[in-house]
Amino acid sequence: MSKIRVLMVCLGNICRSPMAHGVFEARVREHGLADAIEVDSAGTAGYHIGAQADRRARQEARSRGYDLEHLRARQLEPEDFLEFDYILTMDDANFRNAERIRPDNARAELLRFLDFAPGSGETEVPDPYYGGDEGFAHVMDLVEKGADGLMEHIRSRHALRAS
Ligand code: 4NP
Repeated sequence: MSKIRVLMVCLGNICRSPMAHGVFEARVREHGLADAIEVDSAGTAGYHIGAQADRRARQEARSRGYDLEHLRARQLEPEDFLEFDYILTMDDANFRNAERIRPDNARAELLRFLDFAPGSGETEVPDPYYGGDEGFAHVMDLVEKGADGLMEHIRSRHALRAS
């Protein structure tokens, strides 16, 4: 069976989408689904290509037991729409920017990440880059909720059981 491929997208791919990437990767492992689901992340902008996740993002993740050290930023490409099953954007600007490069023969579903966290009362994961550490803690709260909801969605839609 081919893997279900999930791509987390924000603007720079150094704050929000690496956090979503690391948390969802951890959920995949916790559910015993590493053979069934693959996770990646990208930014709609190319400002930080090749960079590690922001220090504050790595620190907030580490404090909650997630490891982002292995991640490096890359830019979203039209080809991603042919290779992934789910492309999840962190905010509405990311969604519009991704839509703009979506090819006609896209296979990926383009969705808002927080559609999977309806209880959060928020529809966008706010950009924490120019703010303080508390912004990163709030992003992590939202990301954990979205990751849990996304996992439930994918498991029921694809009838996945832990191996
Ligand atoms: P991200 O945050 O989209 O969550 O990775 C940002 C990172 C960098 C910039 C903006 C947002 N920047 O303007 O460099």
